[in-house]
Amino acid sequence: MTRITIRRPDDMHLHFRDGATMRAVVPFTAHQFARAIVMPNLAPPVTTSAMAADYRERIMAAVPKGGAFTPLMTLYLTDSTGADDLAAGHERGIVTAAKLYPAGATTNSASGVTDVANIMGVLERMAAIGMPLCVHGEVTSADIDIFDREAVFIERVMAPLVERLPELKVIFEHVTTEDAVAFVQGAGVNVAATITPQHLHINRNAMLVGGIRPHMYCLPVAKREKHRLALRQAATSGSAKFFLGTDSAPHHRHTKETACGCAGIFNAPYALESYLTVFEEKGALDRFEGFASEHGARFYGLPLNEGTVTLEKTGVEIAAEVSGGEAPIVPFHAGGTLPWRLANA
Ligand code: DOR
Ligand code: ZN
Repeated sequence: MTRITIRRPDDMHLHFRDGATMRAVVPFTAHQFARAIVMPNLAPPVTTSAMAADYRERIMAAVPKGGAFTPLMTLYLTDSTGADDLAAGHERGIVTAAKLYPAGATTNSASGVTDVANIMGVLERMAAIGMPLCVHGEVTSADIDIFDREAVFIERVMAPLVERLPELKVIFEHVTTEDAVAFVQGAGVNVAATITPQHLHINRNAMLVGGIRPHMYCLPVAKREKHRLALRQAATSGSAKFFLGTDSAPHHRHTKETACGCAGIFNAPYALESYLTVFEEKGALDRFEGFASEHGARFYGLPLNEGTVTLEKTGVEIAAEVSGGEAPIVPFHAGGTLPWRLANA
């Protein structure tokens, strides 16, 4: 096959930042996707409906003229989040979901939740009104090895949470382990997962062999090969529990190429091309549309998008860096080529 046309897709998890960086990166996503679930880990974080509404306006103003792109906003949960503002924001269509960051887990998560017990009332309200919960699934205890933090989170936090609130819609974000895949597969219909392009392409060797490669570093960190293979199997299986969420996370080149580099891989410019490469390698081109355009929308209870996008097998070269507003950003696959190219949109 040399051409594939699918319903316009959605990115169910990404980071836009704010200000000049946001204005530089939004066009990449607006070019590829109809909608995106926008993460709230700004500094300061998006903790109220009013902040989400303002942030949405700033994003909309950055969408190129003539583009049709809808940002879907999330609220950042803290130990003191109030259920009323969150529920009102959801009811009014301002916030689509709420994001649980365990405090200290990743970029701008310092004001995250220190113990899920502290937000149980909020989660009960979300379950009651059908508002989805996006979860960064890693424990943060210093004694847990970074490569084990997702698996331990399942046992300590995710499994008890899902058992306590089976009616809560939970998205286990950016899964990186066979443990998470198995958990999601075995859980009820209200549990789903996003999978990033990088976790389908790379294992931890890509980050650490032959020198330390900061542009391959994100959180949760890429794991060993057996986990990558489990993720590739899950993404291309056709299961409605797995869907596209890039976790595109722009950090300027100099903030990654430094003694303490930021976590995050900027994959927005060629996200569809990157995912499609994997689906082709797995002989699953016929399952790409479900993963990219249907499973996520259905899980969130959103209408499927109108219109289509077409990818052609003409190949695309990935730039060594792109403009990131204040400073350049190195995209995923920088300097490489991918076999597919987005043709229209
Ligand atoms: O690598 C990551 N980058 N993982 C996250 O969870 C957050 C993200 C960011 O905001 O940079
Ligand atoms: Zn993220």
